[in-house]
Amino acid sequence: MADRRRHVGARLLPGVVLTVLALSAPPAVAVDAAGPRGNYMLQCMGCHLLDGSGMAGKVPDMRGIIGKFQYVEGGREFLGRVPGVAQAPIDDAKLTDVLNWTVRNFADPADRARFKPYTVDEVARLRRQPLTDITNTRARLVEKLPAGQ
Ligand code: HEC
Repeated sequence: MADRRRHVGARLLPGVVLTVLALSAPPAVAVDAAGPRGNYMLQCMGCHLLDGSGMAGKVPDMRGIIGKFQYVEGGREFLGRVPGVAQAPIDDAKLTDVLNWTVRNFADPADRARFKPYTVDEVARLRRQPLTDITNTRARLVEKLPAGQ
């Protein structure tokens, strides 16, 4: 700090002063990591992969199908309750952003247009209602999802 004051006091060229200011701004990457895409990369991508395709036999492919859950009873709730979502080590507001980003990003355009974003209160409530029988709950929902996946 004392250093910088001395430099500015020394009447450096404006360009140099601007450079000093630019260097003291937080790095752009830190800002990105706090956003929903950054949080997806940190918290979700390890299993779901960047393109949402998942891992055959282990992690379901979200592409196209994720936007269909909104049409079946319990589907919307299910997305907020799966362990990967409910237990993500981020606060309710950040989790809401990342869940909304995930649905919008991997849904088909028509489903994306109909998707009503989760509210923070909703996600806060859902994540505290863990699923007891994930495999069967998911299978029952998937059976009812409309076609066009
Ligand atoms: C440890 C691996 C793992 C991580 C990390 C993870 N998930 Fe998942 N996710 C799964 C698996 C496996 C399923 C299928 C349901 C189940 O068995 O939990 C799933 C299901 C889902 C579903 C429901 C879709 C479906 O077809 O069942 C959504 C939405 C979802 N995850 C979003 C996320 C988001 C958002 C994050 C990050 C905040 C995340 N997941 C982190 C493994 C993971």
